[in-house]
Amino acid sequence: MAKQSVTATAPGKINVCLRVGPLRDDGFHDVATIYQAVSLHEEVTVLESAGFTASFSGPIDTSHLKVDGSNLVIRAARAVAEAAGHDGGAEIHVVKRVPIAGGMAGGSADAAATLVAVDELWGTKLGASRLSDIAATLGSDVPFALHGGTALGLGRGELLSPVLVTGRFNWVIVTHDFGLSTPDVFRELDRHRAAHSIDIETVAVDPEVDPELIQALRSGDATALAEYLRNDLQAAALQLKPQLGEALEFGETNGARAGIVSGSGPTLAFLVDDDDAAENLVAAFTATGKSAQSVTSPAAGARIR
Ligand code: C5P
Repeated sequence: MAKQSVTATAPGKINVCLRVGPLRDDGFHDVATIYQAVSLHEEVTVLESAGFTASFSGPIDTSHLKVDGSNLVIRAARAVAEAAGHDGGAEIHVVKRVPIAGGMAGGSADAAATLVAVDELWGTKLGASRLSDIAATLGSDVPFALHGGTALGLGRGELLSPVLVTGRFNWVIVTHDFGLSTPDVFRELDRHRAAHSIDIETVAVDPEVDPELIQALRSGDATALAEYLRNDLQAAALQLKPQLGEALEFGETNGARAGIVSGSGPTLAFLVDDDDAAENLVAAFTATGKSAQSVTSPAAGARIR
């Protein structure tokens, strides 16, 4: 019997390494990135419906989000219906916890959770590989939100291979009441490279991840991971939002092993030693009026709850 409603979750991510190659002809950049899913999840509930609708609630302000057919969750559900030849629609409700336009792929997590939820609701049984192909058509980070855990992302970020990790890492996530547009941050990086005549030869044509970073993840070594955290978009994000620099410094002088801009920002991720260090850093940021929360990584990918 068809299900009446299905709930799925999908995680936000940080990039512990994000190397960006030159601009490609299709407007994207080749990247070499290590994604890590964190314990901050989106929750998507879908119900049978004739058409497609989207709504949002949750602890963060979602009032400005567009809920028409341009929303990624509606595009995700339509893509499953089309691939499976399914006639009906879905009412889609998202409980949002991952910051919007924050560099943590919250919108991608919404799409990934929607893919698995409608596939279950409609009994279309597309399977992981087809859902992953559909995910890649929706956005560069959507396949990772399906996959979860820790993965190397190549191409524009959608070509994934799993990365072995021991143990778990503690992070403090600092969010802001402003967002950054991903295309703007990539454009700022291109502008900077052009203005400083950074020869494309010196920008790795095939960007690569430090083997030391892979080793740090494999051995669960937070000290080594802190040393090799790297984000080529960080300077561009700091150029657009200079106040992020002060917050990075604040975190690093208040107990974090290292801080990094998450993806295209503006969310900051601070690697800390343990739960106590996380709690202390959250308290220090909160005392300055900033929004901070403690998360762990890696976390599972999109799944039915
Ligand atoms: O794939 P997604 O829709 O998330 O990408 C949003 C925008 O970010 C792209 O249109 C592009 O401007 C930029 N981008 C990029 N290179 C990537 C991923 C995203 O230039 N690898």
